[in-house]
Amino acid sequence: MRSLISFVFVLALISPCLRCDETKINGLYNIINYGAKGDGKSDDAQAFLKAWESSCGAKGMATLVIPANYQFLLSPLMLKGPCLASTIQIQLQGKLVAAEKNAWPSYKYAWILISNVNGLTVDGTGGSLDGFGSSWWSCTNCQRPSAITFNSCNGLTVNYLNIINSPKAHININNCVGATFSGITIQSPADTHNTDGIDVYASKNIWIKDSTIACGDDCIAISGGSSYVNVTGCACGPGHGISVGSLGNGKSNTVEQVQVRNCNFTNTQNGARIKTYAV
Ligand SMILES: *[C@@H]1O[C@H](CO)[C@@H](O)[C@H](O)[C@H]1NC(C)=O
Ligand SMILES: *[C@@H]1O[C@H](CO)[C@@H](O)[C@H](O)[C@H]1NC(C)=O
Repeated sequence: MRSLISFVFVLALISPCLRCDETKINGLYNIINYGAKGDGKSDDAQAFLKAWESSCGAKGMATLVIPANYQFLLSPLMLKGPCLASTIQIQLQGKLVAAEKNAWPSYKYAWILISNVNGLTVDGTGGSLDGFGSSWWSCTNCQRPSAITFNSCNGLTVNYLNIINSPKAHININNCVGATFSGITIQSPADTHNTDGIDVYASKNIWIKDSTIACGDDCIAISGGSSYVNVTGCACGPGHGISVGSLGNGKSNTVEQVQVRNCNFTNTQNGARIKTYAV
């Protein structure tokens, strides 16, 4: 009996990975290993969510990989925290394409909603997001979603994200403290309505730098409850410019400490401005 126990014990020691999650290697979580097809036709949202849940629930540092040379069709999805992982990096190397308007189950605030995740880094080098806005733009009285929303994400870093054709705003930053956006490229047609580049709401210590934004509405809009927002080295246009507001119609109408430096405005309706509702 004793020898059997020690045999089992030795076996357990020499094969510590007997029951390991083989889809995870060194803290890397690749959505392909969670069933994503990446053929541009199958909806890969569930695989993406499973890979997110593993990354979010990991101990220590986790990296979620969306690999290059694939096109992932995604219905709307929510990546929710708080996470056990101390830091999470999302490496977006492949192409994400939104499901077309008629395939959406119901109204969603955003195509990709990232909520309550602290210490997140998104590196979009080589990758891209296509919001399939053309399936929405002609519907002028539809409630349209933004492409990607960061909700209550503190200590956020987003680099080299490339987003085209959002149904509405391309990036929303809501209720975040401490975020740096760098090398962002946003592009949608000049004649599309409400396709803001980056919207900042109720957020603090935000730095948007070295980014290129061409869209149908404000390149950047900084709204109620925001403070300490810097925009540097950005190219805006076409678009409506870089705006504070609109202010005067909501609960929190204060915007403080905004700096816009070294930015170019090309073919824009305005430069930097403050928008208010008529009283
Ligand atoms: C904004 O710029 C000012 C002046 O250059 C700097 O003191 C401040 O730390 C910056 N804030 C952010 C959030 O980048
Ligand atoms: C702004 O325009 C100038 C002159 O064309 C150019 O040198 C500079 O790199 C541009 N800056 C940005 C952020 O696009």
